[in-house]
Amino acid sequence: MSEEKDILILAIESSCDETAAAVVKNGRDVLSNVISSQIDLHTLYGGVVPEIASRKHIEKINQVIEEALREAGTALEQIDAVAVTYGPGLVGALLVGVAEAKAIAYAAKKPLVGVHHIEGHIAANFIEHKELKPPFFSLVVSGGHTHLVRVKDYGKFDIIGRTRDDAAGEAFDKVARAIGLGYPGGPKIDRVAKEGDPDAVAFPRAHMEDAPYDFSFSGLKSAVLNYINGCRMKGETYSQADVAASFQKAVTDVLVENAMRAAKEYHMDKFAIAGGVASNTALRAAMEKACEAEGIELYYPSPVYCTDNAAMIGAAAYYEYRNGTRHGWDLNAVPNLKLGER
Ligand code: KG4
Ligand code: ZN
Repeated sequence: MSEEKDILILAIESSCDETAAAVVKNGRDVLSNVISSQIDLHTLYGGVVPEIASRKHIEKINQVIEEALREAGTALEQIDAVAVTYGPGLVGALLVGVAEAKAIAYAAKKPLVGVHHIEGHIAANFIEHKELKPPFFSLVVSGGHTHLVRVKDYGKFDIIGRTRDDAAGEAFDKVARAIGLGYPGGPKIDRVAKEGDPDAVAFPRAHMEDAPYDFSFSGLKSAVLNYINGCRMKGETYSQADVAASFQKAVTDVLVENAMRAAKEYHMDKFAIAGGVASNTALRAAMEKACEAEGIELYYPSPVYCTDNAAMIGAAAYYEYRNGTRHGWDLNAVPNLKLGER
């Protein structure tokens, strides 16, 4: 019996504030995963500054790619395709990765595969769960996105619900800044909330009458701001831990409720969470509990594969490559790329 040839993909990710490169074998085995984070740089400004992000990507990208190839013990000639995130994201940041990937693919005479960033986040689940195959449901919660997605097949998606305003991670970051925790807010709120009471403050949970799977977090963010301003005006102090825990509970309640309702309506017995916020310990615990009660198998990536990385892009790219997706030398950055668009 002839064995199928291994497919090695060099993947590049630069859509936001991480410059990353990875070598992934057959979409599931990560041979290297190098990430150069700009977090310290952007912390000075309380959030990502697009112009600075692009400049830093330029400085780091060659070094990160060289390291990824070296760590994987792979020469460029052994690579089957070069993959890159080409949207959505910050246009200047995306362009750095896209231009680099085109140059490498052209020089090394390798096919070029452009990847959707969210498709990458979802595919992060394939790395550690070798048995996970579509169809399944996914909740993608990151700094820029909150999507409830039906994954019908590799690369085939239906978006069932999305945020109307702020993304879940964005709400974490804004609330963290308001209560003095700084950037990036998600991991800090996660940590501080462990010391707080999630029922201390009754923050609102938004439900959309006309679209039952959509989300809205801007009202919740305003409620937190009003609460802390109210305390300040009355000369009262508030507990940072209680506000963090109550806010986090309000976010996770809505995420879990919509996710479970969708999984049940679509009779889906597998659910995978993805994106930076998928590393939130309260969300994971609440999803575990809800899925167990419904007999649904829950999957989530390790934290390093939840936040932006290139291994997830290599995982998604493998299935795109097998389905015949190839991009030309005119590939451009598409800041508002739609999921499933090629
Ligand atoms: O996926 P990601 O790295 O970038 C985007 O594609 O946006 O997600 C970053 C977001 C940030 O908003 C960050 O605050 C949030 O994920 N995040 C978390 C946690 N770790 C990262 N939010 C809640 N709890 C966490 N433990
Ligand atoms: Zn991301």
